[in-house]
Amino acid sequence: MVKICGIGAGYVGGPTMAVIALKCPSIEVTVVDISHSRISAWNSDHLPIYEPGLQEVVQQCRGKNLFFSTDVGKHVSDADIIFVAVNTPTKSRGLGAGKAADLTYWESAARVIAETSKSNKIIIEKSTVPVRTAEAIERILTHNSNGVSFQILSNPEFLSEGTAIEDLLNPDRVLIGGRQTPEGQKAVQALKSIYAQWVPEDKIVTTNLWSSELSKLADNAFLAQRISSINAMSALCEATGAEVSEVSHALSKNSKIGSRFLNSSVGFGGSCFQKDILNLVYIAESNGLTEVANYWKQVIQMNDYQKDRFVKRVVSSMFNTISGKKIAVLGFAFKKDTSDTRKTPAIDVCKGLMRDDASLSIYDPKVSEDQILRDLAMDSVECDHPVHLQPVISPSTMKQVRIVQDAYEATKDAHGICVLTEWDEFKTLDYQRIFFSMQKPAFVFDGRNILNAGKLREIGFIVYSIGKPLDPWLRP
Ligand code: NAD
Ligand code: UDX
Repeated sequence: MVKICGIGAGYVGGPTMAVIALKCPSIEVTVVDISHSRISAWNSDHLPIYEPGLQEVVQQCRGKNLFFSTDVGKHVSDADIIFVAVNTPTKSRGLGAGKAADLTYWESAARVIAETSKSNKIIIEKSTVPVRTAEAIERILTHNSNGVSFQILSNPEFLSEGTAIEDLLNPDRVLIGGRQTPEGQKAVQALKSIYAQWVPEDKIVTTNLWSSELSKLADNAFLAQRISSINAMSALCEATGAEVSEVSHALSKNSKIGSRFLNSSVGFGGSCFQKDILNLVYIAESNGLTEVANYWKQVIQMNDYQKDRFVKRVVSSMFNTISGKKIAVLGFAFKKDTSDTRKTPAIDVCKGLMRDDASLSIYDPKVSEDQILRDLAMDSVECDHPVHLQPVISPSTMKQVRIVQDAYEATKDAHGICVLTEWDEFKTLDYQRIFFSMQKPAFVFDGRNILNAGKLREIGFIVYSIGKPLDPWLRP
């Protein structure tokens, strides 16, 4: 029986290894992690991450050909193929701080592989890494191995959170990069044959190692760029009376552009986009390509502008002061159908509102109270290393923020509502009931354009929808 070991039981490692186990019953898959709490959660009925369909896949395979363990050395040593899906956050200190990828976790995984391996192995980069990381990893492995040979492949993951299982079961494509040597190509074929158990062959794309590593960074940069582009248009729409959803629709009908990633929003979040663009910027700068670096930096600057613009809109609409006013925040996750809050725009928006002394009442269907308070207490660099930090929550944060269990409690007596995540349940709330329970004038700031602004206006709300013509009240 072929044995696979997945290092890193996070948002990528957990679901990816579970789907391989599901689709390849003849392969034994063990997912290992240094975090005892994560592994015990994977072995329980309360998985450490919320992802539609994940629980069912894990329940089907766990204990049969899918296992979770903290014994990293043993399972690495036993495996024929090792997927490394450890976190690669932005470096918080030292050379390249704030931009370069922190490869500490990757390097420590590589050292364990080198120290414990007694047989030849295929090592697969699942984590998103800077271009030419495979070369560095190869050096660590070959200089520390005892005559064992390793083939390194790049196999970046393209799943999106919230649809991870669907994306893994029906990927647009699987990308595999390998060395152009006979041994390298043999390893590529071995990995290809695993995916071929459920992915059509024409969707499995093979390249050289560096193209594969760079394609992952480029992929995220292109997606984020589309969102920043439509968000730039949203500001122009508000200034001119154009409607961003109509502009998006018109663009989407151009087959050269297509329809996805054109929803204007309060800004993109998630653990990948900002980190991977910064990574790209750093690589460009390191290669002396200043113009290239500046081009991609602008995608992040536009995202920051969009979050900042939203906060300013809230403050300016509410008579230039939100001091002491209760503001309901609906949604904290970085998108719907996930409990993940990494780099969620809600963090920056809430912090912006708190700087103006608002009193926040936050409701999210899946994010825990503890997580929200920690996110609001951490600075942006600490947020990149959440697994290892337990920040102290200051009394002022506690005083300004209440986490509540439903949207009606959040909005009661509030002056305004900010919708920051597009959870479906927010579309069907009883807004008449909410209006009666709020202070007047009652404001809605829809950061995701999911609410029916016309109906809300009929009820009596003053409504701001990103990129839509402004209510007379909100015009300068
Ligand atoms: P994560 O933080 O959820 O999980 C990483 C896990 O690795 C953690 O549980 C950590 O404890 C563990 N770990 C770190 N060092 C280890 C070691 N030496 N040995 C064993 N375990 C170790 O991260 P994630 O969101 O799953 O992302 C993992 C990688 O995949 C990153 O490079 C990320 O950029 C990339 N990626 C993420 C997504 C996504 O949507 N989250 C999508 C595609 C690619
Ligand atoms: C992203 C990439 O899509 C995926 O390919 C990669 O593997 C990991 O990074 P993820 O971060 O999980 O996936 O979610 P995604 O659906 O891309 O959304 C990212 C952010 O952009 C979210 O905050 C989302 O709300 C926002 N977004 C997305 C928009 O604001 N508008 C859109 O049109 C699409």
